[in-house]
Amino acid sequence: MSLTILAIESSCDDTGVAIVRDGKDLLANVVSSQIQIHQKFGGVVPEVASREHLTYINRLIDKALEEAALSYQDIDLVAVTYGPGLVGALLVGVSTAKALAYAIKKPLLGIHHIEGHIYANFLAHPDIRLPALCLVVSGGHTNIIKINRHGEYLSLGQTRDDAAGEAFDKVARALGLPYPGGPEIDRLFKVGNPEAITFPIAKLDNPYDFSFSGLKSAVLNYLNQEKMKNRPIEVPDVAASFQMAVVKALCEKTFLALENEQMSTLLLAGGVAANSQLRESLAKGCAERGIQFYCPPMAYCTDNAAMIGAAAYYKAQAGQVSDLTLNAHAQLPFSTL
Ligand code: KG4
Ligand code: ZN
Repeated sequence: MSLTILAIESSCDDTGVAIVRDGKDLLANVVSSQIQIHQKFGGVVPEVASREHLTYINRLIDKALEEAALSYQDIDLVAVTYGPGLVGALLVGVSTAKALAYAIKKPLLGIHHIEGHIYANFLAHPDIRLPALCLVVSGGHTNIIKINRHGEYLSLGQTRDDAAGEAFDKVARALGLPYPGGPEIDRLFKVGNPEAITFPIAKLDNPYDFSFSGLKSAVLNYLNQEKMKNRPIEVPDVAASFQMAVVKALCEKTFLALENEQMSTLLLAGGVAANSQLRESLAKGCAERGIQFYCPPMAYCTDNAAMIGAAAYYKAQAGQVSDLTLNAHAQLPFSTL
């Protein structure tokens, strides 16, 4: 039987509403980005984010229904991101989803944000065969995840400190680039010299774990040293060299995990999956090793509700449902996936 899901995402600075049928047919996908508002502060201001979500969420639900040419009665299930993320921002989505599910007398399903990112892949490629390995790289997460079957995950490695996207944003800020830093650094990578400076990659006990705070400090130290020596900073070279180091660490560990786990499918997910060098390097490395590589279209890499609707479909198929006690969890652990 066909399942039409209205999904809501409000964990950070994007308010998203999507209507997804059977985990793959996108009937509507609307996103209201707050980037311009937070840009003047150099990063996301949680209180401002919550208020913006509140302003737009109901309008976006109306817009999504209009885009899909559906009414509330056509919705079979309401899905919502309930963590991790900014608690005030999450609360707006969770409260709205609960009220909506209650009002239209339809089931509610809470989705872990990382699971949403993973399922952005299935939205575009519902034919992906499991098991597979997934590299999740976003502003808040960096994980190498083994997906045994739908809903069964094993985290092989994660970041010990900053997430990859967070490192992009912090280094960009130090270079005087606007928020969010990832797309800016990616743009400069194309004009800078990625071999101008060799930044270090952390070695850790677990070969699949990441650490980006040392790399960030190395960039900051480099900038300070150059300033003290009164030497001009070549921003594109620093940006390109930094990106080179991040992508190298992500690729090396991912290929090691693919080899050791004898996986023949790789998925890429999260906002940093929009990075052109990362996409190209993983695609090239996978082609050389005969590994199937999938990454979501650009629009579904950064936060959106379509991916939440896709994840909810597979969870609903497995008989999972939430109730009206569902709450927002800023630190929702990976184990709850
Ligand atoms: O998934 P996402 O929208 O939000 C979180 O769940 O965190 O990811 C946002 C992150 C930001 O840190 C942003 O700088 C990064 O994704 N990002 C990129 C690129 N586009 C977005 N990082 C590197 N290269 C990009 N092209
Ligand atoms: Zn995200």
